[in-house]
Amino acid sequence: MKNKTLNILAIAGSMRSESYNRKALQTAKHIATEFNANVTELDLKTLDLPLYNEDLRAHGFPESVVELKNAVASADVLLIATPEYNHSIPGVLKNAIDWASDETNPFEGKTAAIFGASKTMVGTLRSQLHLRQVLGALSVELVPQPQVFIRSARTAFQPDGSFVDPNINQQLSQLIEATLALAYRKQESRTE
Ligand SMILES: Cc1cc2nc3c(=O)[nH]c(=O)nc-3n(C[C@H](O)[C@H](O)[C@H](O)COP(=O)(O)O)c2cc1C
Repeated sequence: MKNKTLNILAIAGSMRSESYNRKALQTAKHIATEFNANVTELDLKTLDLPLYNEDLRAHGFPESVVELKNAVASADVLLIATPEYNHSIPGVLKNAIDWASDETNPFEGKTAAIFGASKTMVGTLRSQLHLRQVLGALSVELVPQPQVFIRSARTAFQPDGSFVDPNINQQLSQLIEATLALAYRKQESRTE
């Protein structure tokens, strides 16, 4: 891996204080820093976005939306841990993506790594498919493999937040490495 610094914006699509996805995101952030990336986390709970309503921006975007748009614009790579709600992505995550992409699209040309933890055996397979589709609509590129599904989340974590199954760590590491490599290739082709 080349030694240029990429900016990563890390987001967990859950506001739950004991969120499995936020736990998984901490490990992913750690892995990304080992690959020399500069990682910033955006906490959707702290950001406290309003529910999307086009009328709200008639008087200018709310401050939280400006913060979100700027955070996305400053990133080269998005690292998103998504839960699965009713076979799809949670409303809080979709709401954030909708606000961020309103009027202008700061996602254009970004690269993303997505993964997720859920309590069932499907481990966010269906929500990740939807998230891929949504990000595709915004011209975000994702590597096809590996896909990381953290199944049976209740028993997937050690008390310190690390994964019980070391294979998950390895898959996350491969996903992040492949995503950063794609982002580097795009960065290089832009400067050619
Ligand atoms: C409204 C709702 C719908 C859910 N639907 C699914 C689902 O379709 N598939 C699944 O695997 N888990 C589902 N779950 C369980 C989540 O996997 C579980 O709540 C998980 O802990 C959420 O992620 P978090 O810990 O990061 O908040 C659902 C939970 C809620 C509250």
